[in-house]
Amino acid sequence: MDLESILFKQGFGSRRQCRALIAEGRVALGGTVCTDADADFSVDDLAFEVDGTSWRYRERAYLMLNKPAGYECSREPQHHLSVFSLLPAQLPTRGVQCVGRLDEDTTGLLLLSDDGQFVHAYTSPKRKVPKTYLATTRHELDDRQLQALRDGVLLHGENAPIAAAAVSMRGERLLEITVNEGKYHQVKRMIAAAGNRCEALHRERIGSLALPPALAPGAWQWLDEAALQALRA
Ligand code: URA
Repeated sequence: MDLESILFKQGFGSRRQCRALIAEGRVALGGTVCTDADADFSVDDLAFEVDGTSWRYRERAYLMLNKPAGYECSREPQHHLSVFSLLPAQLPTRGVQCVGRLDEDTTGLLLLSDDGQFVHAYTSPKRKVPKTYLATTRHELDDRQLQALRDGVLLHGENAPIAAAAVSMRGERLLEITVNEGKYHQVKRMIAAAGNRCEALHRERIGSLALPPALAPGAWQWLDEAALQALRA
């Protein structure tokens, strides 16, 4: 593939902007600057540098972000910053989108991708992907509330009760809850319907993929093969 197309497909701007980047000597391969936009390279495992930052050619982008509070999962946020402002510009440019949404005040594991099929598969209500959250509640939890969440609670606008796939107490006001759906404010509404109130919400896991403890709030990383495998498990 020619160098201009490589940069273009990876989201480094319009074709014109990519040609300019190359002409300005800002793109290197194997430590050698290449100023020829038409030079051909095999994209298999191709590593390249733009302005000194290393990238690997990826046909599709799959990543996870440790979402901090105060960010919206939207390209055009209304009241807060966008989670996309935490990513290098070429990722939103190449069409990376959120795989489902977390509320502005929810923290933790957020997946992003430019693979439409992947985004659809992990947001489709048909595919019951378990998502595990840690919820801090205003009031002390009790067995009655936990049982209500296990049995199912009727949320406003729904015609059948929704049950948590799993619930357990991790502290007097700390609830671990797994849900298979992804309805609007679902966990907060379920906790309210069970007679408590969610004061803070953190997503720890999607499928068997856990947020890595070393991934700081606001930081992101590529999903490697093992992570993608954990999602499928
Ligand atoms: N449930 C919620 O209530 N909010 C989220 O952000 C995610 C799940």
